[in-house]
Amino acid sequence: MNIIVTGASRGIGYELVKLFAASAGNKVIAVARNAEKLEALKKDCAALQLPAEVIAIPSDLGNAGQLSALSEQIRSHVDSVDVLINNAGAIVNKPFPELTAADFEYVYKVNVFAVAALIQKVIPVMNAGQRSHIVNISSMGGFQGSAKFAGLSAYSSSKAALACLTECLAEEFRDSNIAFNCLALGAAQTEMLSEAFPGYKAPVSAVQMAQFIADFALKAHHFMNGKIIPLSMSTP
Ligand SMILES: NC(=O)c1ccc[n+]([C@@H]2O[C@H](COP(=O)([O-])OP(=O)(O)OC[C@H]3O[C@@H](n4cnc5c(N)ncnc54)[C@H](OP(=O)(O)O)[C@@H]3O)[C@@H](O)[C@H]2O)c1
Repeated sequence: MNIIVTGASRGIGYELVKLFAASAGNKVIAVARNAEKLEALKKDCAALQLPAEVIAIPSDLGNAGQLSALSEQIRSHVDSVDVLINNAGAIVNKPFPELTAADFEYVYKVNVFAVAALIQKVIPVMNAGQRSHIVNISSMGGFQGSAKFAGLSAYSSSKAALACLTECLAEEFRDSNIAFNCLALGAAQTEMLSEAFPGYKAPVSAVQMAQFIADFALKAHHFMNGKIIPLSMSTP
């Protein structure tokens, strides 16, 4: 199975790559900006003797040029894609009056625009022979009716946009063999969580969250399409 995980240099994405790398025959494409951390991930997988091929592609998803190059690089490694997990995420934690246009642009570029652009580029190579799955990683902060938190208006509103994008694409591609689903994560212990909620201790580790997401990515597209699933023990 050919699987792309964005945001793979740390946190949940890092653990996702290791989980997928545990299955022989998989090709796992790991994307993030930090090339050194992606290499460390590859070494980690090798040290654990994980049998799958891990392909590290350093890329800034917020950069249109690098995003175009990324799709070419993906095609040079795999003929088709079975699973795309749009996990990379950017956050700015700032009171609303202090948020600049550049803050909004940065967060929306990574969390929404890059996801839309990458999906556009990957759809033509999604495996037509069997049902494939695009999983967008959103947040409880972007889940309608959930608790909201001061300082996270750019981040949470971008994650709400991502959730809605998922529903739109599921409808637009409902006659295709691609399913689109969205997981609205609650707190998992990562560096991003510490940036959003300094000092907060999450009830779920990055590994545990990754285990659920990996399982969901491999199975849920046979049961659902266009769904936004809240995945939360708590909303901190
Ligand atoms: N942890 C939580 O409690 C929580 C809760 C709700 C939702 N989420 C969502 O879950 C996902 C994973 O979160 P996490 O906690 O694991 O976050 P994290 O530890 O901050 O990791 C984020 C990943 O995204 C990558 N990334 C950020 N900007 C990028 C860019 N411009 N281009 C390419 N890669 C980029 C980072 O790599 P580089 O810096 O190397 O680029 C990193 O690998 C995110 O979408 C986040 O919003 C997390």
